[in-house]
Amino acid sequence: MRSHVSDVIAGSPGVAAFLLGLSIATGAGATEPVPGPVSVPATQKGATSAVAAQTVDAFDRLFQGPHAGARAVHTKGILAEGTFVPTEQAALLSRAVHFHGPAIPVVVRFSNFSGLPANVDGDAASNPRGMSIKFVLPDGGDTDIVAHSYNGFPAATPEDFLEFLRVLGSQDASRIDRFLATHPAAQTFAAAPNRSPQSYAREFYYGVNAFRFTNDAGVSHYGRYRLEPIAGAAYLGPTDVAGKSRDYLAQELRQRVRQEPARFRLLIQLARPSDPVNDGTMVWPDDRTVINAGTLTLNRTVTDDAARQRALLFTPLNLVGGIAPSADPMLVARTRAYRVSFERRVGTHADEKDK
Ligand code: HEM
Repeated sequence: MRSHVSDVIAGSPGVAAFLLGLSIATGAGATEPVPGPVSVPATQKGATSAVAAQTVDAFDRLFQGPHAGARAVHTKGILAEGTFVPTEQAALLSRAVHFHGPAIPVVVRFSNFSGLPANVDGDAASNPRGMSIKFVLPDGGDTDIVAHSYNGFPAATPEDFLEFLRVLGSQDASRIDRFLATHPAAQTFAAAPNRSPQSYAREFYYGVNAFRFTNDAGVSHYGRYRLEPIAGAAYLGPTDVAGKSRDYLAQELRQRVRQEPARFRLLIQLARPSDPVNDGTMVWPDDRTVINAGTLTLNRTVTDDAARQRALLFTPLNLVGGIAPSADPMLVARTRAYRVSFERRVGTHADEKDK
């Protein structure tokens, strides 16, 4: 199948100068540095806080929760550990500490979308799959990427997403049809192929919401993360799915990493100035520059998996200098909702540093 890396211009002579802002490329696949600072308006931050709790309630309704000690959604998962090695392109794009220097440890959580703890891997509600990454930084801190296997999202705003979940939770077919008919992004999401990957390590994952990357020279670009499985994407046919066990993905990953590491390229698709950076429903065209920011090598699963999953909080706004949020309101809404779900899960206060 076609690889996202076929779009990568890494290695072509103009890229370094381009990322440093020394030249502005205008041909196909090019972006321009982004002028001016970006901040999330305070009003937007305030507006999403009630919505976040209501969203977690809506997930609970949809998945007959709350389920004690479990995530409200993406409930079933498995951890893997390994390393991340950045490329020179990453260092040129952003001054972020993990984009410079040697290999650092990573903890990755793969998951299914469903909020049911007993979810079956081959079920429709298992899509999209999740891939959350925690980069462990040299100073003892960490930074996260939270991605899923659908390139896009059913709603552009937290309020619309909440409404979508409530409509789904009502199980009223005519309400659901009316919502889909008036929300094209939700319609596209609902119509997307419902595939089961052969392995968590053979699926693409997308960060969806944009960030602003700033390098040592002060030049900024907007970009969106992608994780490309180096083994290639591979999906099961309907008969194969029927023959699989309910937990085949965790079983496969444990077995896989005993034999060979699961590897992913961390890619960043760069926006052109005309591309919307505040709306995750709007997929940027395929001809946009995609840089290869580094490689994740996962070579082990963990023994105390359930306890560690419960204690881990991944959020899209757990950031470091050199990577800032875009004005996409989902970033704040997601971070708040993940925290609500986390606090309900562990019953304690989270010590999250991005507030
Ligand atoms: C406003 C939009 C969204 C809301 C309100 C939301 C809400 C949530 C909540 C409440 C959780 C459980 C977190 C926890 O208990 O730790 C979660 C998990 C997750 N979400 Fe979202 N989500 C949103 C959008 C997205 C998007 C756009 C993506 C993918 C790019 C995504 C991917 C994931 C993943 C992978 C997890 C599992 C995190 C983990 O492994 O701990 N979500 N989401």
